[in-house]
Amino acid sequence: MNNSIPYYTLNNGVKIPCIGIGPGSVLRGKNVSVPLVGKFGFVGKIVNKVVNKVYFLYKSRKYVASLANSLRLGYRLIDYSAAYGNENLIAKAISKAGLKREDVFITSRVTNKQQYDGQVRDALFKSLKNLGVSYIDLYMFHWPVTDHFIDTYKEMEKLYKEGRIKALGVCNCHQHHLQKILDECEIVPALDQFEVHPLFTQKPLIDFCKKNGIQVEAYTPLARNDDRLQKNLILKGLCKKYNKDLAQIILRWDFQNGVLPIPRSSNFKRQASNINIFDFKLLDEEMNAIDSININSRLRFDPDNLDFHSVG
Ligand SMILES: NC(=O)c1ccc[n+]([C@@H]2O[C@H](COP(=O)([O-])OP(=O)(O)OC[C@H]3O[C@@H](n4cnc5c(N)ncnc54)[C@H](OP(=O)(O)O)[C@@H]3O)[C@@H](O)[C@H]2O)c1
Repeated sequence: MNNSIPYYTLNNGVKIPCIGIGPGSVLRGKNVSVPLVGKFGFVGKIVNKVVNKVYFLYKSRKYVASLANSLRLGYRLIDYSAAYGNENLIAKAISKAGLKREDVFITSRVTNKQQYDGQVRDALFKSLKNLGVSYIDLYMFHWPVTDHFIDTYKEMEKLYKEGRIKALGVCNCHQHHLQKILDECEIVPALDQFEVHPLFTQKPLIDFCKKNGIQVEAYTPLARNDDRLQKNLILKGLCKKYNKDLAQIILRWDFQNGVLPIPRSSNFKRQASNINIFDFKLLDEEMNAIDSININSRLRFDPDNLDFHSVG
C-alpha cells in the first residue's frame, strides 16, 4: 500500500488504489524504416528488421524507465492487458523502481482472441509467467465478446476460487452485459473498466455499477487531450480557481465521483501532476458543472457496434 494516495475497497474486501497508471503498449506507434533501403530486396528487408529490433530495444528501455518513474512517484496500480504484449516489461519496471511484487496492484486482461479460442486458463497462466508473478490482483476480459464473455467469466470465476486472481473484473461492459453476468454467473464483478471523461460522463452506467457494488474504472480519462476540453470555459475557470491544470481537475472530478481513473502519460512531469490531486476539493456545484459538459461523445469503440476480431 502507498499511504500517500487513498484506496477504494472492492466488493470482496480487496483494497485498490483510487488512481492508476495505464502505460499502454510499448508497441504503440509505427515501425521505422530506413528510406530507400526497401529497394534493395532481401538485404533491405534484413536492414530494416535490424533497425526495428534496435528501435524496439530503445523504446522498451524508455517504457520501463517511464513506468518505474511513475511507481517511484507513488502510483501503485498498473493497468495492463495481454493484448498489449511484452508483459515482461511490467516486471522489469517494478524491479527498477525498487518495489516488491506485493507493493503493486497488477491488472491484466484476457484478449478477444484468447476468448474466441477458449483459452482463458492458458491465458492467465501465460500472463502470470510473463509478469513473473503467482497471482494477478485484478483480472478482466478486454471486451464482452458476443457469445463468449459469459463462458470466459465463468472460467475466470474458477481461477479466482483457485487463488490466482484477487479480484474479478470486466471491461467495456454496458448495463446489459453486466446484467447478463449478474443473472448467469455466481460472483458479482468487482469492477467494470470503461470510457469515462467529461465529454462522455456515462452517468446511467455509473449509477448501475454503484447500485450493484461494482467499482467503476475510467479509461481514456483525459479524453486524450481532446481540444473540446482544452477550450471548455467551465474547466478553464476551475483550473484558474484551484491553480491546477486541466488533467488535475478532471482526475479530481473522477475521484470525488468514486471513479478510478487510469491516465496514460510517459512524461515524468505529467505523471507527477496527474497524481497531485488530493490537496483540493471541488464544490458540489462545480462537480455538477463538469457533469453538464457531457455530450455523449465516445472516443473509443462501442462494444455494441464492434468487430471483436479487430481489437483487444
Ligand atoms: N480497456 C480498454 O479497452 C481500454 C481502451 C483505452 C484505454 N485503456 C486504458 O486506459 C489508459 C489511458 O487511456 P488513453 O491512453 O486512451 O487516454 P488518456 O489517458 O485520456 O490520454 C493519454 C494522452 O494524454 C496525454 N496526457 C497525460 N497526462 C496529461 C496531462 N497532465 N496534460 C496533458 N496531456 C496529458 C498523454 O501524453 P504524454 O504521454 O505525453 O503525457 C497521452 O497522449 C490506457 O493506457 C489503457 O491502460 C483501456
